Parts: sequence; structure tokens; C-alpha cells
Amino acid sequence: MTRIETLAICAAAPDEALSDETRSEPTTVATVEQHPAADVASTYNALPVETTTDGAAPFSREQLSELDQEDIGERARPVDCDAEYKTIMITGGAGFILFTQVLQGDVTSSDFIRFLLEHLKVEAILHFAAQTHVDNSFGDSFEFTKNNVMGTHVLLEAAKEHGIKRFVHVSTDEVYGEVPHDEVGSNGSAAECAPVLIGYEQPACREETILAPSNPYSATKAAAECLVKAYHKSFGLPTIITRSNNVYGPYQYPEKACSKFICQLLRGQPCTIHGDGSNSRRYLYAADVADAIDVIFHRGEIGEIYNIGSQCEITNLGLAQGLIRRFAQDRNADVDAALAKNIVFVRDRALNDCRYAVNCSKLLTLGWRQRVDFETGIRKTIDWYCQFGEGWWGDIGDALIPHPGKRLPAPPGGW
Ligand SMILES: NC(=O)c1ccc[n+]([C@@H]2O[C@H](COP(=O)([O-])OP(=O)(O)OC[C@H]3O[C@@H](n4cnc5c(N)ncnc54)[C@H](O)[C@@H]3O)[C@@H](O)[C@H]2O)c1
Repeated sequence: MTRIETLAICAAAPDEALSDETRSEPTTVATVEQHPAADVASTYNALPVETTTDGAAPFSREQLSELDQEDIGERARPVDCDAEYKTIMITGGAGFILFTQVLQGDVTSSDFIRFLLEHLKVEAILHFAAQTHVDNSFGDSFEFTKNNVMGTHVLLEAAKEHGIKRFVHVSTDEVYGEVPHDEVGSNGSAAECAPVLIGYEQPACREETILAPSNPYSATKAAAECLVKAYHKSFGLPTIITRSNNVYGPYQYPEKACSKFICQLLRGQPCTIHGDGSNSRRYLYAADVADAIDVIFHRGEIGEIYNIGSQCEITNLGLAQGLIRRFAQDRNADVDAALAKNIVFVRDRALNDCRYAVNCSKLLTLGWRQRVDFETGIRKTIDWYCQFGEGWWGDIGDALIPHPGKRLPAPPGGW
């Protein structure tokens, strides 16, 4: 068996924020504290990635929590792998990714990234690091350009210089812009409040669809993709792009809808619904996304783009109602009363795309399948938040307000 080192580059060392002793990873924490770039605030992502050349776990399963063992067990194994990547750098991996070292630093620091690639002899990069919360992008959107566009550019340039063998850039379904119900992909029922199962054969955006991002977050992700494609075409950098639907699961910072609603309910607060809640999203359990990234990393073709699509679509209102129902049933409380009490409608986002729809048949040809249905995934997620939700990140109060996000200072004379 070839042991692979997986390095996670994140904006802050996990143990700064994750003090819980039950945390199952990483095995080593190394902070490059001398480097001047190693200091920015952080949120955490929720995409577990496990990578070895022969499909074996990078460290023993006994080191993992029961839940993590179960999630990894549900993932496709073994993967085919021709190449040998002894050191893989994962940017943005501070939450749920399985890695053997954690390095603290800023991906926008060219000096720092070049130093790392050289010093640690990195051979492949999985690039997740980004500012990711759409709400925040309506506020301080310069941060999104800096981290998402400049950060990607810095990595690409360093990867080119260093001769990286594989560069997987993690993008999003949002780069396509919204897909109204009457265009593609809808079976007419997405406005339902219960999760709707979408067949893979449903029409939806394919990878060659022209991008039409509509909010500052997705615009920066699309801009970053342009750079990735340019580096592939101009310099032959071996890149692959992924575009995933929404991710949910344990360890997710509670600024995204699922985790936020769960944490609000755990605090006895109502779920704050933007607008009328009719906007729908497709959801993938984090382990399914990790599995997809793993499959794409090992089996994907250089220069290609892969959508990662879910079969489950649900409106924001339906998501909240389903969670309230589950919470009430778990506590033997009256469901109707709980529904009446625990929903509050707040002003909508500056722009709220009605839905996204990606066609993932290309990924299916690589052998990936969505394994975790929404009912199972959301149950695990709720259980995890019930156990760890309030203690995992420290104070999460700011994330739970209806519209978080630092505002840009108004220009003289106002906007
Ligand atoms: N969450 C989703 O539903 C979803 C869906 C599709 C695609 N994605 C993409 O997946 C990736 C991960 O998303 P997530 O939801 O886990 O996000 P997240 O915000 O939870 O995690 C992002 C991570 O990037 C780090 N980061 C940000 N700027 C950095 C910088 N300059 N230097 C170093 N680290 C930096 C943050 O500290 C954080 O650990 C993103 O690229 C996102 O666009 C997410």
C-alpha cells in the first residue's frame, strides 16, 4: 500500500475553533506559524475526502468517529488509480476532510503557496478554499473576489511553476445561474414542500452550457473557472473542474440553509425564511460529494468539467417545514403547533435564484452514484448537530441571523 500525505490548507488551524475532544481527525497538526501569510479568520467546510492510491483508508478507521466510519463505508471503493500522488494539497479543508497534516495559511499569498508546494513536494491539488456564503457576497463582495479569484489565480500560477500533476478546482452549480421551472429540469413539482425526487434523465444544465452567474459569489466562482480553463489551454496545466449542487451534512458551518435551520431550532428560535421560501435547491449529503470528488480526482479526464448533481430537490420552505416536523416528532410535540410557531418570513436576498439544475450524466459514466437519500442524510445531520452543534465552532450567533454578512462601507454620499 502506498501511503499518501494529504495536506489541508485552511485559513485557521482547526484546534483554534474545534476544541472538542471527540474530533476524529487529523492525525498531525502542523502550523507554518513563522510564515507571514498564516493568519486570517475562518469558517469550516464540510466535504470529507479520503485519498489513497489503492483505495485503502489513509489511516485506521478506529481513529474515526462512528458516524465518519459509516459515511466512509457508504462511499465507492475501491477507486482505480493510475497515477501516484504522494502528496496532495487540499485547500479549504478544515472541517470534515480526512488529512494527515493541517497547515494554516492564506491561499492568496503567492509566496506562501510557492513555498509550500516546493517545500512539501506537493503533486496534486484539490482546491476547495473560497468565500462561499451567498448572503455574505451581497455585503463585502471584495473579499469574494480576493479569495475566490485571486486565491485561485495564485494557486494556478504556483501549480504551473511547480509542475503539479493534477489540479481539481471545486466550483458550483451556481455558475450556470438560475434555471426557471419552465426552462429545463422541472417536473413541475419543485414548489412542493416535500423533497422531490428528480430523475437523472431530467433535462438540466450540461457542462457545456454558457455560464450566467447572477450573484457576486457565483460571479467570482465563474471568474475563477475562466482562469482555470485559461491555465489549462495556455500552459497545459492538468486541471479538472467540478460543479456541485448544494451540500449538507455534519460539520457544516451553520450559515447554509440546512445547518442554519437545525441550529435555529436547537436554540428554540424560528427558522428564518428568505422571501416566500419557494426557491428550491438540490441537496447532496457531504459523503456523496466527497465520493464524487474522489471519483473525479482519480478517474476524471484532464481538461474536463463534471457536474455533481442530486436527485433530491426541495424548496427552502419545505426544508424548514420538514426539519420542524422531525424535531416535533422526536419530542412528541404537536406538529401543527410547531409548524405555526417555528417559521418566520424575512425580507428576501438582494437576488435569490429560483433554482439550479445540473445534469450529471457525465459523472455517472465515471461510476459515481448518489448513495445517501435525503431522509437518511438529514437524520444523521440532525443527530450530529444535536450532539455537537452548539459547541463545535464557538459562538455561532452571528451566523444564525437572517442576513449575516459584513457590509461594505458606503461611498461618500451613499450608494
Ligand atoms: N456548500 C455547498 O453547498 C457547495 C456547493 C457547491 C460548491 N461548493 C464549493 O465547495 C467549496 C467548499 O465549500 P464549503 O461550503 O465547504 O465552504 P466553507 O465556507 O465551509 O469552507 C471554505 C474554506 O475555505 C477557507 N478559505 C477561504 N478563504 C481562504 C484563503 N484565502 N486561504 C485559505 N483558506 C481559505 C475557509 O477558511 C474555509 O475553511 C467552495 O469552493 C464552494 O464554492 C460548495
